[in-house]
Amino acid sequence: MFKEKPTISKWIADMYEQDATDTNDVEFLLSVIGPKPKRILEIACGSGRILVPLAKAGHVVTGLDFDSYMLSKIDSKTEGLSNIFWYKADVINDDWGNDYNIVVIAGNFLFNIISDMDYEKAQKLLIDKSAKSLVSGGIIYIDYGYTLHPEYWFDDPSERVIWEGTDSDGNTGKMILFGSTFDKETETVKSIRRFELHCISGEIIKQDIDVVKHFATLEQIHSWLSSTGFIIEEEYGDYNCNPISETTSRAIIKARKI
Ligand SMILES: C[S@@+](CC[C@H](N)C(=O)[O-])C[C@H]1O[C@@H](n2cnc3c(N)ncnc32)[C@H](O)[C@@H]1O
Repeated sequence: MFKEKPTISKWIADMYEQDATDTNDVEFLLSVIGPKPKRILEIACGSGRILVPLAKAGHVVTGLDFDSYMLSKIDSKTEGLSNIFWYKADVINDDWGNDYNIVVIAGNFLFNIISDMDYEKAQKLLIDKSAKSLVSGGIIYIDYGYTLHPEYWFDDPSERVIWEGTDSDGNTGKMILFGSTFDKETETVKSIRRFELHCISGEIIKQDIDVVKHFATLEQIHSWLSSTGFIIEEEYGDYNCNPISETTSRAIIKARKI
């Protein structure tokens, strides 16, 4: 399992909090699931960007994530809410609980799984575990960055600064992504994440992490869903309800467990 050093993990959680402020996906999710209160599980909930608005909309929500720094951000956003729960768990190896009406796999998590398991197997496992955690008639909701031409997205050796900034401890740094390649046959994306932190203590922390991921095609997602007993009810390529096409950049899928 690739995992960065703790000082870097804390810096990442602060950068994510500063940077990930989009709400389009959350508003869309809320409109798709409707106002009637439901029991919702969000796996890999991070700092609660999606989880907290779901609770504020009246749903009873549970979030799982294995990163304590990310989870520690949730508490201060939940004052007055008694319908939100979160705990530290590895979504690949730990139990998710059951009897949920909806399982949410959003915020690109299908393409951001950290585990030792073969990537494609881990992706399919998330769908299997969703089926087990849902009541009969329950919904799986998946939202991730998707293109019909992954080679254009991922075959790119150039350097891109993903985050640059200072965390709440005063540690300043950046995360660069480079050397990205895409293997069409195996749909494997390989890249390197480079972290460089200048800590307030004077220490400089550098870490390179080799990242290997599997880009799940729509056909694969469809076949995993149908083999697990899900029927797709809605599918979109963007938050304006357009179908997945050459010009859209997401796969948003709502499927029901039968
Ligand atoms: C990009 S963040 C998304 C957070 C949230 N879903 C959102 O959209 O804001 C991805 C999260 O996945 C979590 N994560 C990655 N692999 C995990 C695993 N195996 N078990 C639990 N959490 C995991 C990370 O800790 C991180 O908080």
